[in-house]
Order: sequence, then C-alpha cells, then structure tokens
Amino acid sequence: MSAGDTERKLPSALEVLEERERQALLGGGPERQRRQHEAGKLTARERLELLCDPGSFTELDKFVTHRCADFGMAEQKILGDGVITGHALIDGRQVFVFAQDFTVFGGSVSGAYATKICKIMDLALRVGAPIIGLNDSGGARIQEGVESLAGYAEIFTRNVLASGVVPQISAILGPCAGGAVYSPAITDFILMVDGTSYMFITGPEVVKAVTHEEVSKEELGGAATHARISGVAHLRAPDERTCLQWVRELLSYLPSNNAEDPPVVPCQDPPGREDPALDTLVPEEPTRSYDIKDIIRRVVDNGVFLEIQPEMAQNLVVGFARLEGRTVGVVANQPAVLAGVLDIDASVKGARFVRFCDCFNIPLVTLVDVPGFLPGKSQEHGGIIRHGAKLLYAYVEATVPKVTLITRKAYGGAYDVMASKHVRADINLAYPTAEIAVMGPEGAVNIIYREQLARAADPEAARAAYVAEYRQRFANPYAAAALGYIDEVIRPRQTRPKLISALRMLRNKRQHNPPKKHGNIPL
Ligand code: HXC
Repeated sequence: MSAGDTERKLPSALEVLEERERQALLGGGPERQRRQHEAGKLTARERLELLCDPGSFTELDKFVTHRCADFGMAEQKILGDGVITGHALIDGRQVFVFAQDFTVFGGSVSGAYATKICKIMDLALRVGAPIIGLNDSGGARIQEGVESLAGYAEIFTRNVLASGVVPQISAILGPCAGGAVYSPAITDFILMVDGTSYMFITGPEVVKAVTHEEVSKEELGGAATHARISGVAHLRAPDERTCLQWVRELLSYLPSNNAEDPPVVPCQDPPGREDPALDTLVPEEPTRSYDIKDIIRRVVDNGVFLEIQPEMAQNLVVGFARLEGRTVGVVANQPAVLAGVLDIDASVKGARFVRFCDCFNIPLVTLVDVPGFLPGKSQEHGGIIRHGAKLLYAYVEATVPKVTLITRKAYGGAYDVMASKHVRADINLAYPTAEIAVMGPEGAVNIIYREQLARAADPEAARAAYVAEYRQRFANPYAAAALGYIDEVIRPRQTRPKLISALRMLRNKRQHNPPKKHGNIPL
C-alpha cells in the first residue's frame, strides 16, 4: 500500500470536524424538515436566525447524543439530540437561547437534551443574561423514562432559581404538553402563535377518556384560549416571524439581570411636551367612559406602548413604554371595560406585572380610574379576597420608583391598592377631575342618609341633593390633597412633563424591605 492510498482513505482531522458539523446541521433530515414547513412552522435553525442578530449565534454541545439503548434507540443517535443551544446577541446584548427541534424525535426531551439546556441556563445565571426558550416538543422522550423526567425537573429548578435574577422568555412554537408546560409557566413571559402552538397538561384524547368531554386541541390549549381565557399566554402572535420579533422588542425594554437598570434609548420626543387634547380627554361626567390607552399613548415616548396580556382582563391595562428613553411599567384601570373595576383576573394580571417590574428595576407608573372591586357571588366564591390581596401585596412590596396619577375615580379599597401614597408610592398626582372617596356618591348617600331618605317627603329629590352635597365635598382631589395624600393636582396637558420630572427625581431611589427569607404572598 502506498503512502498516497493512506492519505486518500483517512480524512484529515479538519475533514472529520466538517463532516460532523454537516451531520449536526441536518437535524431530523430534509423529509422531516419538509413536514415541519408543511405544518406552517419554521425549523429550529430558521427560528434562531430570525431571533438573533445576524451571525451572532454560537452553538454549544452540537455533538451531544442521547444515552438511551432501549427500543432500538442505540442505533438512532442524532447529533445535537433534538435541541440547539447556545449564546447570541439581540440588539447587541448577550442572551442565551435554546431551540427545540421537532424534526428530531419530535423535539422530545431526553436526559442529555435537558443537560444541554441546563448548561446554558447555568451560564446565563453566571453572566447575568436573559434566557429565551423556543419550545416545540412532544414532551418527555417516551423511550427514556425517568431520565427524561429528571432532566425536566433539573430545568424547572433552574427556571425557579433564575426567576427574578435574569429575564426568562418562552416562545411556544408547536406542541407543549404534559409536565413540560411548567418550564414556560415559571418563566416571565409566554408568547404563542395562532394556529400552530398549544399548551395543555393532557391532550384532547386523555380529556375524553377521563371526563368524556370532547374538545379540540385549539379550544383546549391554543393561543387564543391562553391569551383570552386562562391568562397563561402574555402575547399572541399571528405568525412565528412576528412572535420572534416581539421577543426582541420585549427584551429591548428589559435589563439583562436584576443588578442592572433597563437600557436607555435615545429619545427624540421632548420631555417637556404638553398635549392640550388631554385637558378634555377625561369626561367630567363620572358615568361616561374613555379609553385609558389614549392617555398612555399621548404621554409616553413617540406613542409607543407594548401592551402585555392585551386580551385578558381588559379592565386593567399593563405594559411597557418609555419616558425620556427609559423603560416604565404602566398599570392602568381601563374605564372603557367594566368601568375599570378590579376583579380576580385583573388583580392577578396586575400583581404579576408589578412584581416583574420590581424584580427588574422598572419604575411603575400607575393610572387610576377605578370604581372599586367587583362585588358578587362569583367573585367572592372565586376568591377575590386573596386574589385582590395579591395586587395590594405586590404594590406594597415593590421598591422601584412608583408614580401614581388619579385621572378620575379612586374609590374604596381600590384607591388604597392602586399605588396610593399609603402603599409607599413616591409621588401621587391627580387631575382636577379626580374623585377620591370611600365609595361613589350614590352608594354613600344610600348608607349614611338611610333614615333621612326613608322619612323624606320626596325621597328622589332628597337623594339628589345629598348626592350633590357628597360629590361637592368628596368627589374631587382636594380633600386628599389637603392631607398630603396627593402631592400635586396637575393640568392634564402637563401629564408627560410631570411624570418625567417625578421619575427623574426618583432615579436614585433606594428602598429596602425588612430582611426575610421571602414573604408569603396570598397565592
Ligand atoms: C419520543 C416522540 C415523542 C415523545 C413525538 N415523538 N413525541 N418521540 N417521545 N414524547 C416522535 C414521533 O414518534 C414521531 O417520530 C415524531 O416525533 C413526530 O411526531 P408525530 O406524532 O408524527 O407528529 P404530530 O402528528 O405533529 O404530533 C405531535 C404530538 C404527538 C402531538 C406531539 O407526537 C404526541 O402526542 N406525542 C406524544 C406526546 C406525549 O404524550 N408526550 C409525553 C407527555 S408526558 P417519527 O420517527 O415517526 O417521525 C411529559 C411529561 C413531562 O411530557 C414531565 C415533566 C415533569
């Protein structure tokens, strides 16, 4: 045998590497990739390209394979084992990403696969960078059994330990079933895609077998279900590209970790900009509604507001915006829906958002127009007491700058809860149209003048007079301002400069809660 023959037969070390890399890129192969596209989904690598800054993704562990020998699995090893993990840049900032590859064993999670995800989660925690999960998986790898379950639990554990330390975002881009849903559930934001993503504890077949209930997977756990009814999804995108774009946009508001402030972007919108239209936006008649989002958009930088959970509990609006280029978390009662009343869903939605902002040093701007908590049997039986208490708890606990503006009604317990001075808000502003009282004039008069009304010759005329008197006395911001509970009654046109001035003053705010292991929020 000549030396030349040997050279031809043995590939060089570089050729071996190149061949392995080529293999790793194949995933489940062209046929399964075609099926993925036919199902209206992108491949894991296409998704990473859309999510990350061009050329910034560095893959780790691309040669990892599973360790299962049962059910003929020893002969079926695919480099990477069904999940692509690594680090990348988004808008030039460090992130860690995993993308489940449905073309490899249905994206199902093996022990080795989970270890890959855990590795990047550990790195993300070590360097203080967000973790983004692109989920598309048949769940635990059935051939593997308990090793797969253990792997899931290792991921859950890291999700919990990372909670409040680095932002965690989950995009659901295919199935997400069984216990697998609990990893996204622990993360800060879940984004779903219409028609292709679904999340449930058990699929329609199991539901039918156990409860005899027939339900489609869309109705059981599709994007619309979770965005509108369950509140599991924070954003529902029309397609994957939009979904991944929203992940980037969401991140632009967030710091990389809890020790950083959110990024500051250059702002062309003048901080002193007044808006005369605001002077007449809130109707003086307390029963006439208006859209609180009109105020938000008129006030924040360039009118840009990223609403979170826009389809759920619409009586409370939450989301991110910027003032002077700096992120704020906006929480606002929505008078246009259920008169802006606080109910169970609104309280839970608000509480979670407030706590997220507090974790990540995002100042809170609260706009108040609330007639109170929603009364009734279904709310009481559903636990409005403990759910409403969550919002109260969250506001009190929050130590980020808190600026509150009462635009109209602030009644009863809801006045207290919605970032009043008494729950440690820093600056409390009110429009001249604000009404701050224990309850609305009609309800108040019925109680305090019950006997007089019973004796009155003309009860309706008497009621009208009492209501007018009560309104005159309490349905304004001045009683609260006289006590210092409202720092300033402002002209609505000056809302933007006033909020910006308060936030500037608060920029170096430092406040600490008493040392404790953790509080006991009424879950
Ligand atoms: C191994 C799996 C798999 C799994 C899918 N595949 N799920 N392999 N373990 N969990 C494989 C299929 O065998 C198939 O392989 C390929 O992935 C694509 O699956 P299809 O069924 O052809 O795709 P589709 O019709 O789109 O259906 C997707 C699906 C379905 C709805 C996800 O595959 C399914 O119901 N899978 C089982 C889901 C499940 O019960 N998982 C366990 C849940 S319990 P081939 O080779 O044919 O292409 C769980 C516990 C987690 O996850 C616990 C954490 C605490």
